[in-house]
Amino acid sequence: MLKVAMENELALHQMKELKLNGESIVLFRLKDGFYATQNKCPHLFAPLHKGKIMDGERIQCKFHRAEFDIRSGKSCKWANFPPGIQMLNMVRGEKDLRTFPVKVENGEVLIDIN
Ligand code: FES
Repeated sequence: MLKVAMENELALHQMKELKLNGESIVLFRLKDGFYATQNKCPHLFAPLHKGKIMDGERIQCKFHRAEFDIRSGKSCKWANFPPGIQMLNMVRGEKDLRTFPVKVENGEVLIDIN
């Protein structure tokens, strides 16, 4: 596992972009701990760390407002903004996010990217 942050570095509902082995990953701090997902939105690759955390549990992509469960990576709402984007959804179908195991040890946040 790789050390990516100190536990006290992120406030509640804060995100941090990580570049690990050429992959962009986003680290989240939620009320019950840390989570990590791929950072590229599977719709049209917007960086999710520039999005908004909704209700303390979903990340909303800032481009077309797709939403994903941060803990599981499951798609909750596919791209729906601006009106008409649904036409594109026929070729950019709904996909979940890849997630990565995270643990905290001695105040350090560690990620398994394998
Ligand atoms: S790029 Fe994320 S919803 Fe379109």
